[in-house]
Amino acid sequence: MFNPDSPQGLAISNLFVLTLLIAAGIFLLVAGLVVYASICYRRKPGQGEPYQNFGIPKLEVGWTVAPAVLLLGLFGVTFVGMGNADPAVEKDRAPDIIVTGYQWWWGVSYPQAGVISANEIHMPAGKRMLVRLIGGDVIHDLWIPRLGRKMDMVPGHPNEMYMQADTPGVYIGACAEYCGVQHSKMLIRAVVQTPTEYDAWLKTHSAPAPAHPDAAFALRGQQLFQQKTCISCHAINGTAANAQIGPNLTHVASRQTLAAGVLQNTPENMAAWIKNPQQIKPGSYMPNLRLTDDEIKALVAYMETLK
Ligand code: CUA
Repeated sequence: MFNPDSPQGLAISNLFVLTLLIAAGIFLLVAGLVVYASICYRRKPGQGEPYQNFGIPKLEVGWTVAPAVLLLGLFGVTFVGMGNADPAVEKDRAPDIIVTGYQWWWGVSYPQAGVISANEIHMPAGKRMLVRLIGGDVIHDLWIPRLGRKMDMVPGHPNEMYMQADTPGVYIGACAEYCGVQHSKMLIRAVVQTPTEYDAWLKTHSAPAPAHPDAAFALRGQQLFQQKTCISCHAINGTAANAQIGPNLTHVASRQTLAAGVLQNTPENMAAWIKNPQQIKPGSYMPNLRLTDDEIKALVAYMETLK
């Protein structure tokens, strides 16, 4: 949050720092006066009751008016800051990205390009993207601190906000609303690319997966995918798999992480995840299918073809 990379994030950061500095100034003033008074006005030996003062009107008006002016000023700055952090959405503007919160992962889709991904938001640098936020089951909350405000994802009530990043890079975020046992392992990342890279990414990811992988071993993995219950939860565009319960796996091999930011996406981790998801993310809706090591190897080989 102190290192923002978007106009929206900068507005929040500036407002926070300004408020913090003012509050720190007031704290130092009050604490300093208390310390000063308690040292310099201590009762001295032999001193009687001090003179009782029942009001200094000028001082009282002063300490009422000064905070009121300060608060009004802060209100004005906050009002402007909120406008910059969360610009109003134009009427009839279609969302660029739809992010849906599920227990405990994120569906990410690009309705105009027909791309469906998960746990990773791709954005072109310097462009304001309209993100629609949907609660898929319970209330979640999307927060990528360096890119701006956080916003709730409420079932039955889509919210929208503008998101932007100025520099290419990876920006880490998380679910910021307690949503059940694996709330802490519900991470998300924004992968910000140059506009050319982003367009290329959209193009590759709008393509379906090959109907049949080339290598025989991966083909065996594909058959297992359809025979075992993988196909009842996951979709792989271009194949018979089209269930919407778990993440869409059409291009799973090109993602950076598995299980919503919990594991780096490597063949070893993919195998460990398929072998026993409950050990890595207890309570996750991905079941342990009790597959043999050979079956897992074939499935991983198939997953690795889904670039
Ligand atoms: Cu989703 Cu916390």
